[in-house]
Order: sequence, then C-alpha cells, then structure tokens
Amino acid sequence: MASCAPIAVALDAPDLDTAARWAALVAPHVSTLKIGLELYLRYGPDVVASVRGASSVQIFLDLKLHDIPATVAGAARAVARLRPALLTVHAAAGPTAIRAAAEAAPDARIVAVTVLTSLGEGDLARIGLAGPVSGAARRLAALAVEAGARGLVCSPQEVAAVRAEVGEDIMLVTPGVRPAGAALDDQARVATPEEALRAGADLLVIGRPITGAADPGAAAAAIGASLRRAEAARS
Ligand code: C5P
Repeated sequence: MASCAPIAVALDAPDLDTAARWAALVAPHVSTLKIGLELYLRYGPDVVASVRGASSVQIFLDLKLHDIPATVAGAARAVARLRPALLTVHAAAGPTAIRAAAEAAPDARIVAVTVLTSLGEGDLARIGLAGPVSGAARRLAALAVEAGARGLVCSPQEVAAVRAEVGEDIMLVTPGVRPAGAALDDQARVATPEEALRAGADLLVIGRPITGAADPGAAAAAIGASLRRAEAARS
C-alpha cells in the first residue's frame, strides 16, 4: 500500500470516538494527524494517545500558543511529553516566545502562524499591523524563522512569497486545500492539493473533504494518489 501522502488530516470531530475512528481510517494513507484546540481543550492530553492508536503517524498539535515567553515555554514543555511532531505558536507572540518554545520542545518542529486567514486588511489595520496582509505575513515569517521556528502556516496564495522569504529548509503548511469539485465549506481562498504542492507547500492541511466523506480512508488514499500522479507527471 502506498503511504504517507504529505497531508495533515484536521480531526475537527465533535467527540473523541469520532476523532479516533477517523484517525484509524486515514492513518495508513497520510503522514500526519492534526489535533486542534477544540478537541484538545475538551478531552485533554489523552486525545493524543487516542488518535495515535497503534500507528506511527505524526501528530500535529495545533494549539496556536500566544503568551509571554515563560508561559509559552511551560506550555511547550507540558505538551512535549506527548511527542508531537509539530506544534503551533503565533508569530505575533514575538521572537523570544518562539525561541522559548523551540528550546522547551526540542524534538517538536515549532510551526509559526503568521496572519490568520480570517483577518482581512481592515482587521490588520485596527490591530496595528500596517500594510497589506502579504507584507505582514512575510515580516512575521522572517521573524519566526530567525527565532527558531522550522515551519510556517500560510495560505496557498502566500506560499510562493513566503518560500522566497525563508528558503527551502522551512516546512510550509497550508490549509484552505480543496480537491477540484469539492465543497468549499467556509473556506474562501482555496487551492487544489496539486496547486498547493506546486506552489511550494510541504504539508497540506485537509479536513472536511476527507472527514466528511462516506469513506474517509478512501478519500485520503484518493487525494494521496492524485498527488503522486501530479508529482510523477512533473519529474
Ligand atoms: O475542513 P477544512 O479542510 O477546511 O479544515 C481546515 C483546517 O485547517 C481546520 O482545522 C482549520 O481550523 C485549519 N485552518 C484553516 N485556516 C487557517 C488556519 C487553520 O482552515 N488559516
């Protein structure tokens, strides 16, 4: 069986049993499972063991830490024992907080969130971040990488610009991915999985197109196969 498509399945489930069931179905086909704030806050650290099961899939803890450096360090240390491969911190928490997370969880890849895609230019101006969204995203990306982040979350539309800013060694993680013809749900600016990879993304966050399918395992396998075909066509 072909395995390990560069996909992080967003396990945005209403309860732990559903998350664990989705995880077991998709784990043979994808590299990563993403646990977000809602599931983590409802069920606590045990959620990680429940979704990991017996698989060797990577865990992406998307907790978006944003606090003073000592608190971010303590939080990162607290979750490091869960052995997440990826842990998110807001770049706007500042370089000292990002460095603190990287030092407190040295085995996790700290992934910095630049600008939430839910924020428009008007919102950014009110927050006090001047200029276009892409400028703020590039600035925050550079700051985060300099402080020790080894990954960044950005929209498929920003991937190429952010890649130019930070170079090849940084993992770029993109949500807002929809296979051609799939429902957009509440995502506005989307790219297909093939487009996102072509633009330079390393890991695609995909939730509902997989978890909302009648057979999530088959949906994950199909997207993985389409990525491999696109890759083969390019090489
Ligand atoms: O179901 P869907 O594929 O839209 O899931 C996308 C996942 O990525 C969700 O867990 C969502 O919280 C997350 N996300 C996003 N847009 C961002 C950052 C994270 O959709 N800018």
